[in-house]
Amino acid sequence: MSKTESFNRKEGELFCESVSLQYLAKEFGTPLYVYSKSKLKENCLQFQKSFSGYPTQICYAVKANDNHQILKEIFSFGFGADVVSIGEIEKVLRAGVPGEKIVFSGVGKNRLEIKRAIEVGVGAINVESVSELKLIREVSHFMGQPVSIHLRVNPNIDVKTNPYIATGLYETKFGIADESILELARSIKSDRWVSLKGLACHIGSQILELESFHKAGVRLKQMADELRREGFPIERVDLGGGLGIAYQDFETSPSVFDYSQKLIQIFQGTQYQLLIEPGRSIVGEVGGLLTQVIHTKSQADRHFTIVDAAMNDLIRPCLYEAYHEICSVKSSDRPPVVTDVVGPVCETGDFLGLGRKLNDPSPGELLLVKNVGAYGFSMASNYNSRARAAEVLISDREVKIIRRRETLESLWQFEEL
Ligand code: LLP
Repeated sequence: MSKTESFNRKEGELFCESVSLQYLAKEFGTPLYVYSKSKLKENCLQFQKSFSGYPTQICYAVKANDNHQILKEIFSFGFGADVVSIGEIEKVLRAGVPGEKIVFSGVGKNRLEIKRAIEVGVGAINVESVSELKLIREVSHFMGQPVSIHLRVNPNIDVKTNPYIATGLYETKFGIADESILELARSIKSDRWVSLKGLACHIGSQILELESFHKAGVRLKQMADELRREGFPIERVDLGGGLGIAYQDFETSPSVFDYSQKLIQIFQGTQYQLLIEPGRSIVGEVGGLLTQVIHTKSQADRHFTIVDAAMNDLIRPCLYEAYHEICSVKSSDRPPVVTDVVGPVCETGDFLGLGRKLNDPSPGELLLVKNVGAYGFSMASNYNSRARAAEVLISDREVKIIRRRETLESLWQFEEL
């Protein structure tokens, strides 16, 4: 099956589905997050189909992109949600996810968050420490309400990705070391309200090989079997998210189908339900950031293209040295220059791309930063008192504004004046 592209060039001009990016810039201003609904649907379908041969609950990792309309579209495929805060719980409930399809992850859940999770009857809380388990017991006993948990295992697996987003090693703050799981499980065996239903792990993000997922799956199955032998009613294994996408030409991402087969092969013939928590692989390729060139300048041997999007709109290049392809919205025959595409924020780290070859960009021209649907807008801030960008969702010719541009007034609305 040929893959849908979120952005296409027609007669030298870039479109999202059937809508011209020049038109979008004129109508909604820049910087602007632009998402393709067809691409989003295609990715959801791909996951749904690939895992249809095995009982699997796909819980979309909301942190990747938590826009209400994007969530609604994803949940319309029957997906659940992986959430990490009370804010995300409330957002997914509003987008129509039933409580039992929510898994609650994260190392620092507080009393209020745990109480709310129990109240809405989440499918499971993924427990990340002895201290957290103690708090969950305290809260559920006080409420007199049952709660299902998974213990999040730290399987000590080293994956090839940016160290800031590798989570499967003992030296990271995540999960409970695999060797302490059994003892911890025994400590709650006869608990009236808290029942251990499964094991979970998440070894990292932007992983482009399948071997690490396989290793983690095998390890978790082994541990789940051990717990069952001890009489624990283990029903589920949650393998987290982490499947990467190709940000650069030389990268290839494993197909969702190959990923599914690699996991299913481990669990075929067992009684475990599989849970996965994809984020980036669902929304990453769906979005682009449309930005306008404000100025250009040359200094020593560098050329700079100063655009109206900045690190507050997209922090990935600055935070992880992440690469995002940048291209001109309108093709031109001007000579190529090697240029640093930078934003207006007062930091040297404020760049979207360094040393990029572009056809001599000029003020007023539009550029598109690609593959920003995941961890783009969701990590945006108001740094430098910059109002956050608007977001639009495109479906063929239809344009839907799914988040308005923040107003200047919104920048001080919570401050004492
Ligand atoms: N489940 C858990 C428990 C997670 O911590 C994460 C991501 C996911 C699922 C989803 O992972 P994904 O499928 O999206 O790789 N801001 C970083 C990525 C941080 C990922 C944090 N955890 C970035 O921009 O690359």
